[in-house]
Amino acid sequence: MLDIESIRHDFPILDQQVNDYPLVYLDNAASSQKPRQVIDAVSQYYLEYNSNIHRGVHRLSQLATDAYEGARVKVRDFIHAQSEQEIIFVRGATEAINLVAQSFVRPMLQAGDEILISHMEHHANIVPWQMLCEQTGAILKIIPMTDLGELDLSSFDDLLNDKTKILAVGHVSNALGTINPIKGMIDKAHAKSIPVLIDGAQAVPHMEIDVQDLDCDFYVFSGHKMFAPTGTGVLFGKKELLEAMPPWQGGGDMILSVSFEKTQYNELPYKFEAGTPNIAGAIGLGVAIDYMLSIGMANIAAYEHDLLVAATEKVTAMGGVKIIGTAKEKASVLSFMIDGVHPHDVGTIFDQQGIAIRTGHHCAQPVMQYFGIPATARASFAFYNTMEEVDALVLGIKKVQELFA
Ligand code: ALA
Repeated sequence: MLDIESIRHDFPILDQQVNDYPLVYLDNAASSQKPRQVIDAVSQYYLEYNSNIHRGVHRLSQLATDAYEGARVKVRDFIHAQSEQEIIFVRGATEAINLVAQSFVRPMLQAGDEILISHMEHHANIVPWQMLCEQTGAILKIIPMTDLGELDLSSFDDLLNDKTKILAVGHVSNALGTINPIKGMIDKAHAKSIPVLIDGAQAVPHMEIDVQDLDCDFYVFSGHKMFAPTGTGVLFGKKELLEAMPPWQGGGDMILSVSFEKTQYNELPYKFEAGTPNIAGAIGLGVAIDYMLSIGMANIAAYEHDLLVAATEKVTAMGGVKIIGTAKEKASVLSFMIDGVHPHDVGTIFDQQGIAIRTGHHCAQPVMQYFGIPATARASFAFYNTMEEVDALVLGIKKVQELFA
């Protein structure tokens, strides 16, 4: 059992009234809250040793470099990568996917080649590939989806063919909560020598990730969804692939030497970290990892599963509400529609009761198109949420139904 009261103590933002109700924060898939430990670590950097990294022999720069590189080691261990050289700090999952698209995939693409994604991807795992297709004449192929919001893998073997240059798929759907069977998909792609990128933005905050066990070639995620500062994120890539890739952005820190005739690029991971990075953010990300590990990823997964099951059962038992996304394996997300009410109205009435959810297409418009709806209302859980907040969600739905009766 998690000590939720003491955990919530670490998240000062949760202890406030919104519209005269206690805040019920159920918008964790959009962005999670940050524990005091993370906020303190970021403040401490600015208050005590703010300085640039990898550049100074002076004390503050050494402290900053140690803290920044220490965070990289924490990320390495957290996702079970082999080497810290495989951990590239980026602005978020979106930047990581764009980096892989432009630096890894683009150089090998010919017109007519194929990029395989799924119907339930976030726009961040659609648009960079569409841009690449426009640039090269490659073709975007889509793994279909079922009414439950699961991937329909019946055509998967055929979709993986000689022309497929990469499979890029989300681990957990942000709009539906579906946990995709990525291990089997990676194995199948590798059997045909097709590299795989996994968008783990919605998975990393909720379950233990082992990139060596998954054997994925790239795994990307964002810090702000895992209790760390915004503008932070990670690209994991297998070392031999990253080594062979050209840099994506040029600038400081990614070079060994520069002359007008020739620039020699730095080694991994710095080759992909041009310019002064988000030093405070990376340090905060390392502390967010410490925090999650202090609770335990298995404990987080089990507790959030209980919250999701309870919410699903209670909402299913109500009349006039439809859950969108009823896959067997789900994490954290409950998307729903209340009969006769636009999700934006649901969001507004919820806000009047202090309940924060996201309404809209969730940056996954093809999912909405599949279900023939403009939007959903989405509650998404983190380990600091409570069963009382699940009840507040149910009461919120009742209130909407009363108002629209
Ligand atoms: N991708 C974020 C979400 O699902 C913003 O809400």
